[in-house]
Amino acid sequence: MSFLYVLEGVTFRYPRASRPTVEDVDLVIPAGRLTTLIGPNGAGKSTLLKLLGRRLEATEGTVFYCQQPVQTYPVRQWAQAIAWLPQNPTVAFPIRVEDLVRLGRWPRRRTWFDRPQDAEVVARVLDVLEIGHLRGRWFHELSGGEQQLVHLARALAQEPETLLLDEPLTFLDFRHTVHVLSKLRQLVAQGLHVVLILHDLNLVAHYADWVVLLYGGRVMAIGPPDEVLQYRYLKAAYETEVYVDLNDLTGRLIILPMPEGWQDPRL
Ligand SMILES: Nc1ncnc2c1ncn2[C@@H]1O[C@H](COP(=O)(O)OP(=O)(O)OP(=O)(O)O)[C@@H](O)[C@H]1O
Ligand SMILES: [Mg+2]
Repeated sequence: MSFLYVLEGVTFRYPRASRPTVEDVDLVIPAGRLTTLIGPNGAGKSTLLKLLGRRLEATEGTVFYCQQPVQTYPVRQWAQAIAWLPQNPTVAFPIRVEDLVRLGRWPRRRTWFDRPQDAEVVARVLDVLEIGHLRGRWFHELSGGEQQLVHLARALAQEPETLLLDEPLTFLDFRHTVHVLSKLRQLVAQGLHVVLILHDLNLVAHYADWVVLLYGGRVMAIGPPDEVLQYRYLKAAYETEVYVDLNDLTGRLIILPMPEGWQDPRL
């Protein structure tokens, strides 16, 4: 297995924070796979994703990307290689959908002007995400789910080698959720590396190749979904009673949170 990322002794502390948010993390993320970061609120997932995307710099330790410390890549090369979609992207100015998606082409430009292939890529990613009909709409007049798809389109328009997505499916309905995930799987099959943060563990069970479970800024478990999505890890990490079973139809795990105070009647 070749590695996309290797983290060695990575610690990150926000300025003024009393303790590190990511603490002494050693992990690997395989190349050519779909990796998910999971864990409870505040576990450090978004912070870790920012370290992978070089939006933050480790206080201690090293983040290697394709065998080189991330800091050693020239800015332009990094901007072309990595697309990072934050958890709460903001668009502070009025802009039409097509123009916002076109911004994703920015790292690939050499001049202020669009090249014909830029327009082609924008049209293609809008098509892939089935949002071509939104092309001429004002971004701020879209629904939450539509806005999320547009942000995703902008990340895809960058044509990165690695996509880092922070909860990209939160506002999507069932159909769009499975559509986006199956498109991501297709792109992974074509060689794209994907790391995404998800809270829906059933989707993780179904679509992920590799899972990193974070708890309190540390790695609690790492590996393929069947190894990580185990009752003992999930119960400990989420501090919640969980139901973990095998979905007979799909052969994948099915995971549900149980009501607070739930006692297993069989015990
Ligand atoms: N800019 C910041 N300054 C100080 N502390 C921060 C900052 N950003 C995040 N933190 C703290 O770091 C911890 C981890 O935050 P992070 O956003 O990485 O969590 P997360 O796992 O992504 O959680 P969620 O599932 O809620 O998005 C939290 O306790 C948070 O309060
Ligand atoms: Mg987060």
